[in-house]
Amino acid sequence: MMFDPTVEVKKDTILAIETSCDETAAAVVRDGWQVLSNVVASQVDLHARFGGVVPEIASRNHLETVNAVMAQALNEAGVALPDLTAVAVTIGPGLVGALHIGLVAAKALAFATGLPLVGVNHLEGHIFANLLQHRDATPPFVCLVVSGGHTSLVHMPEFGSYELMGSTLDDAAGEAFDKIAKFLGLGYPGGPMIDKLAADGDPSAIEFPRAMMHTKDFDFSLSGLKTAVINHVRKEREAGREIDLADLAAGFQAAVVDVQVHKTVEAAELKRVDTVLLAGGVACNTSLRERLRAELINRNVRVLYPSPAMCTDNAAMIGAAGHFRLWRGEFLQLDADALPNLQL
Ligand code: KG4
Ligand code: ZN
Repeated sequence: MMFDPTVEVKKDTILAIETSCDETAAAVVRDGWQVLSNVVASQVDLHARFGGVVPEIASRNHLETVNAVMAQALNEAGVALPDLTAVAVTIGPGLVGALHIGLVAAKALAFATGLPLVGVNHLEGHIFANLLQHRDATPPFVCLVVSGGHTSLVHMPEFGSYELMGSTLDDAAGEAFDKIAKFLGLGYPGGPMIDKLAADGDPSAIEFPRAMMHTKDFDFSLSGLKTAVINHVRKEREAGREIDLADLAAGFQAAVVDVQVHKTVEAAELKRVDTVLLAGGVACNTSLRERLRAELINRNVRVLYPSPAMCTDNAAMIGAAGHFRLWRGEFLQLDADALPNLQL
């Protein structure tokens, strides 16, 4: 039988490492769900003045930070190297140079200790963040994976099996939030700022396009919305009118969330699942969480999402997915490469 973490309990202690983007993270996870430590060294301040992640700065900072973050994760967990069962590390998708640093650190540790090495798909990690906090959740699931780099609807008939139903044709959801925030001078990352501003705005004050809302597929397009927001702001400025940032944020957010909620509901109905998982940084979004839950509750579909700290990049989620891969007997060789375009 294939390993099913909701049926079988497997004992292990995993040190997990995540460096795919701009967080240097390490965590110790026991038995696939107990988070003994979860250290995240964010580089946000280093990238903020550029309005986005600068890959070269990210790699260099991971290199300077990763050893200390790993040591801190072990220390906070009260775990020594001989207590570990395996080392898990994100192998992709992500920035190649950034991924490489975590991978090399994990390989060096595995080589020195003789521990098995497990490679984890970053997106599977985001999905497994749900299982850290909802241990009873069993597939089939429909997962909406929305992060800075990805926007996908995924059908997960069983653990470890993924069918891509659709994805963005251009910008990712988080990328759209970040670009609009940058344009408005709100800082980086943009998602949390727009979420907060939108809470005081009227989502119907400015009507933005809902791209691909009725295309009867599960794809998304967000670049047109970005242009529509920018054009609106330029027009208002030219006309000498004051821009209500709260209404603008609320209108933009509603346009994103409307399409995502609509397509996720359709996907859940098509696949007849009773559980939908939200995953990735944009799963922090208040409106997305509330709207999706409200829409699906009437259809007897449960919507799960991780706590905000587990939605954004962290290594605990990599430990959870690593546990699953370990007990499937999927190991990484010491000559493995980072896979910047890895698919689920
Ligand atoms: O998953 P994540 O930490 O990194 C990637 O794997 O990309 O996601 C980061 C993204 C950023 O684009 C950020 O703006 C977005 O998640 N984000 C949000 C919110 N919190 C973070 N987007 C919308 N609303 C939020 N509350
Ligand atoms: Zn991520």
